[in-house]
Amino acid sequence: MKKKVTKIGVLSSGGDSPGMNACIRAVVRTAIYNGLEVCGIMRGYSGMVEDDIIPMDSRSVANIIQRGGTILKTSRCKEFFEPEGRKMAYENLKKHGINGLVILGGDGSFRGAQIFSNEYDIPCIGLPGTIDKDIAGTDFTIGFDTAVNTAVEAIDKIRDTAEAHNRLFIIEVMGRDAGYIALHSGIATGAENILIPERKTIIEDIISQLEEKERRRKLVNIIVVAEGDDFGGGNEVAKVIKERLPLLEVRVCILGHIQRGGAPSCMDRLIASRMGYHAVECLLEGRHNVFVGIVNNRMNYTPLNEAVKKKQRISEEWMKIVKILAS
Ligand code: F6P
Repeated sequence: MKKKVTKIGVLSSGGDSPGMNACIRAVVRTAIYNGLEVCGIMRGYSGMVEDDIIPMDSRSVANIIQRGGTILKTSRCKEFFEPEGRKMAYENLKKHGINGLVILGGDGSFRGAQIFSNEYDIPCIGLPGTIDKDIAGTDFTIGFDTAVNTAVEAIDKIRDTAEAHNRLFIIEVMGRDAGYIALHSGIATGAENILIPERKTIIEDIISQLEEKERRRKLVNIIVVAEGDDFGGGNEVAKVIKERLPLLEVRVCILGHIQRGGAPSCMDRLIASRMGYHAVECLLEGRHNVFVGIVNNRMNYTPLNEAVKKKQRISEEWMKIVKILAS
């Protein structure tokens, strides 16, 4: 029989994402509504290993729904990936009487939760908080919508200046292993080319497309590159283009961490609130060691051990759309 959860710990782990605060608020308030005690675990798994754990109540999460970042702070904790670190974490949880965990983070954080829940009798519920949208089993991840809108706003501004000077702009967006930010922001801003880690970048194709556009006097071009693109990111792509097409005026802009901050969009606040609520419901109903997602507007629960294996795939149709619309 599964043990009843009476006191939960909530933490954010890995890269922060806009909407994490809205999610923490939802977890804390749903838990309190159901008569559970709640603790905040600071700095991700580091707070579990180092006993940086604080009690939370309804007021602890007041006035945070609109704020980016995470009030619990975050980290990528190496110690937790060692058995000794996890043992310390478990002992600290026991000391505080915590018998259920909600982990807000990406696939690396879920991997940690999966290992921990296999070793110790503490049910873990994952919530997908990452701007990268690279987790299979959910249509949305908390923070993606805000990040992609930040990128769109920036690229629109760059297009104005690109247009004024007839320049080619190479814009690098985040996404170490996943091209979703590049794909969505690129399509939404009418980019001429989008380079993503999921597809091999063939520089010859890009050069010949640019040559063909030069012949047609289409001189303003935007290429959106995900940082994890196999060619090596925006600077590398620009270097080769400059060598091969010296008459083109090329500029590079790396958007970087601006994409991780800022007030969460309405969409991110909504999914964060909905997922946070359901994470607590999972713990109460005994639906343990899963991560909460939304698929076709319905809640979807994926076992943690499956979640860490799969990535979201980018459909080939999107790439066809990019090509047709950029002509
Ligand atoms: O995983 C989210 C993410 O923003 C990636 O897109 C990016 O590569 C990485 O985090 C950056 O991590 P850090 O903030 O540690 O440099």
